[in-house]
Order: sequence, then C-alpha cells, then structure tokens
Amino acid sequence: MVRRSRRPSLARPEPFLRSLVLVRERVPSFDHYPFDIPALRALTKLDFNPAVTIFVGENGSGKSTLVEAIAVAAGFNPEGGSRNFNFETRRSDSPLFEAIRLVRGIRRPRTGFFLRAESFYNVATEVERLDSAPSFSGPLAPVYGGVSLHERSHGESFLALAVYRFFANGLYVLDEPEAALSPQNCLTLLLRMHQLVEQGAQFVLATHSPLIMAYPGATIYVLDGTGAHATGFDDVEHVRLTRDFLAAPESYLRHLRDAAQEPEPGYS
Ligand SMILES: Nc1ncnc2c1ncn2[C@@H]1O[C@H](COP(=O)(O)OP(=O)(O)OP(=O)(O)O)[C@@H](O)[C@H]1O
Ligand SMILES: [Mg+2]
Repeated sequence: MVRRSRRPSLARPEPFLRSLVLVRERVPSFDHYPFDIPALRALTKLDFNPAVTIFVGENGSGKSTLVEAIAVAAGFNPEGGSRNFNFETRRSDSPLFEAIRLVRGIRRPRTGFFLRAESFYNVATEVERLDSAPSFSGPLAPVYGGVSLHERSHGESFLALAVYRFFANGLYVLDEPEAALSPQNCLTLLLRMHQLVEQGAQFVLATHSPLIMAYPGATIYVLDGTGAHATGFDDVEHVRLTRDFLAAPESYLRHLRDAAQEPEPGYS
C-alpha cells in the first residue's frame, strides 16, 4: 500500500534531468503560442525532483505544452512512445522545445517512455505496426504483456505498459496518466512508480488527479497566470476542492448554485 508522508522518505537517486531553463533569447515572440501562455511566458528555471515532478493547473494552463516540450527536448517522439518511436499522425509539437534547455545529470537513462493520454491509441497502433514488420530484435508484443494493447481496455493497456514496459533506470514523461485509470489503478500506478523510483527511475508528469499528486515527496508545480510555482500538496487547489466537495457534496453544490451570478441559458 502507498502511504502519504509529509517528509520525503523515498530514495533520492541522481536525476537524469536536473532542471529546465527557458532560453529567452531563443523565444521568437511572447505574443504567439506557446510563449503567450501566461505560465510559460513567466518561466525562467524549474528544478526537477530526482524522483517525481508533477505539473498541475487549470485546463489550458499549459501543462501538456510544457510536458511535451520536455519530452521532445529529452529525445522522445512528440506523440509518445519510447525513443525508438518516430511515427507521426499529426504535427503536434510546439516550438517550445527549441527554446528550453534541459540541464542533465551525470547519469543517462537506460530506457524511457513518453505517454500522452490523448495519443495513447496511436502508440498502441505503432506497437502493432512494429510487430507486423520483420525485425532483428523480435516482436514487441511480449514486452507489453503478450497481448496487443488494442485488445485490452484503455486502462488495462495503460497499466500493461507501466508494468511491462517501464523498467529500472528509465526516464518517464507522462501527460494525464490517470485519464484511463480507476482510483484503484491510480494506486497501482503509484506503487509501480515507487518501485521504479527505488530502481533509479525519474518521472515528470502532468495530472489533474489528487491521488497521483499525493506521491510522497513529489515536487508539485502549479501553473497559473503568473508562472509555475512549487506548491505543497495540501495547498494545491485540486486537492482542497476535492476534499471540500467530498466532505459535503450537497451543501457544496447548493453553495455553488447560490454563488452563480448568471442564470442557466433558457432558464427562468
Ligand atoms: N497548437 C496550438 N496552437 C495554438 N494554441 C494552442 C495549441 N495547443 C494548445 N494551445 C493553447 O495553449 C493553451 C495551453 O494548452 P495545453 O494543452 O498545454 O493546456 P493543459 O494545461 O494541458 O490543459 P488540459 O488540462 O485541458 O489538458 C490552451 O489555451 C490551448 O488552447
Ligand atoms: Mg493537457
């Protein structure tokens, strides 16, 4: 079972990624995407946690844009996969990766994976395509648990990936890993992350899930209109709102309804 602790009690390996610097001279314009996103416009330097770094923030605050840029700067395919994946179904990377510099540690990752919830289907398709072509390295399906990722549910296939394809000493960049997972399986993912961190892995991820944010000792950056701010778990808005709502859903909804300024469209 994963237990929360206020003190970072987990192993602290030497990180693959130490920090991220926005090289402002490389920014073509702060008036256009992605540099016009307020949290990114204010970015200077972010230190990565040697184990788990988590980006949180409202929808549209820039998490996916930042996480994708980190992944591409680290050598991953913008749509996801391991470093050996180079498929492209649509151009999705933003020029942010060209303007950031990753400060690397002395260790090099032995493996890794970039996973975006929104393009997981394409990653599964690429695994099948690579398997259908002749290869010196043999089929990939056994690496993913022996069953095509398309023949599992979304959550099952995601977990298969984390269990069978995430190895020790890897760098893992994940965008909303909770998207497919039940709360129980969010905990399974946390446990897997914990095992891998103890074996030298480093995680950088974006999430809306308070369960994932509760990873003990993680560094949490909240992206908002003024930048990216390191924030304690208990002070993250997602956590406070979830706690308050679950403590009293009826009165919370009543409060929201009473606080609403405008009536619903077509409602009198
Ligand atoms: N290709 C693009 N061109 C222009 N603007 C974009 C593009 N992709 C994203 N944006 C805008 O950039 C902002 C940040 O988007 P991003 O996807 O990074 O947000 P997010 O924090 O990941 O949101 P969510 O929580 O909904 O996943 C949004 O306002 C979005 O509309
Ligand atoms: Mg996103």
